Amino acid sequence: MNIYVTRQIPHIGIDMLKAKGYTVVVGDDREPPSRKRLKKMVSKNKYDGVLTLLTDHIDAEFFDVAGPQLKVVSNYAVGYDNFNLKDAADRGITLTNTVGISSDCVAEHTVALMLALTTRIVEADSFVKRGKYKGWDPMIFIGTDLCGKTIGLIGAGHIGARAAMHLVKGFEAKVVYYDIKRNADLEAQGAQFVEKLEDVLVQSDIVSLHVPLLPSTHHLMNEERLKMMKPTAFLINTSRGPVVDEKALVAALQKGTIKGAGLDVYEDEPNLARGLAKLPNVVLTPHIASARESARDQMAVMAAQNIIDVLEGNEPKGKIKTVIS
Ligand code: GLV
Ligand code: GLV
Repeated sequence: MNIYVTRQIPHIGIDMLKAKGYTVVVGDDREPPSRKRLKKMVSKNKYDGVLTLLTDHIDAEFFDVAGPQLKVVSNYAVGYDNFNLKDAADRGITLTNTVGISSDCVAEHTVALMLALTTRIVEADSFVKRGKYKGWDPMIFIGTDLCGKTIGLIGAGHIGARAAMHLVKGFEAKVVYYDIKRNADLEAQGAQFVEKLEDVLVQSDIVSLHVPLLPSTHHLMNEERLKMMKPTAFLINTSRGPVVDEKALVAALQKGTIKGAGLDVYEDEPNLARGLAKLPNVVLTPHIASARESARDQMAVMAAQNIIDVLEGNEPKGKIKTVIS
């Protein structure tokens, strides 16, 4: 069996594929390969499985170049908006993701962004490092409490639910959430379901996004919805960039429509909307919410195991439903 891994991932996953006797080619690009390069790479060999990153766009064109022997494309990510599900279904190709693995660390990162905003820790750190600290001053860097605040989740899957749990247990937060599906476990911990997404926006001190990127969630947070948030509220996005209209967000932050934002993902990564990086009331991280050693290793293991399962004729744990029935 021939496997192509589009870029370097933790070696534990690669070792698993090699231990099966597969021939494994690992892309050596430091940056995401272009579409052209990706196609060129898969056209070179007849690959049975491809292990992709979330920056690799996989659709009919890719499948056609890869050839009919391709059986599985395994995403090293929980999100899979880089996959065209229908194109895979049409060809009988199995798609997989690393569902569940990174929920804890993305949830922690979500809480970290919240705390970074409420405590103003990033601004304060820069202040001290720039030599601006001239002595204790009761009037500087006045932040916001997190304890007891209302946290609004949009999307209550694994990640949203974990974040809610940390906030309820650790910060006695009140959690309200909206999702297309109710989450009974989350409600058992005290989270309150609201019928309309807009109700989350109106009630929350911090709104956190945990939806997959779909046509229905593209620009879910637009100008109109940002205006529904409290002027004292923060927006957190650790899901996918295009869920937020980033231009509208910059305008809202400049005008004081909302108080601040913590972002790990961007609409056009790695580019940022004009003006975003200049704002004092944002905390920006480079899509690293799952960047912990244990999670990244486990993602590599699951991505490799998903390929092995498919090639051995078993149902992979991370199988993505490509046909909506
Ligand atoms: C990271 O963004 C992931 O989807 O795992
Ligand atoms: C979304 O990816 C979630 O699991 O919450």
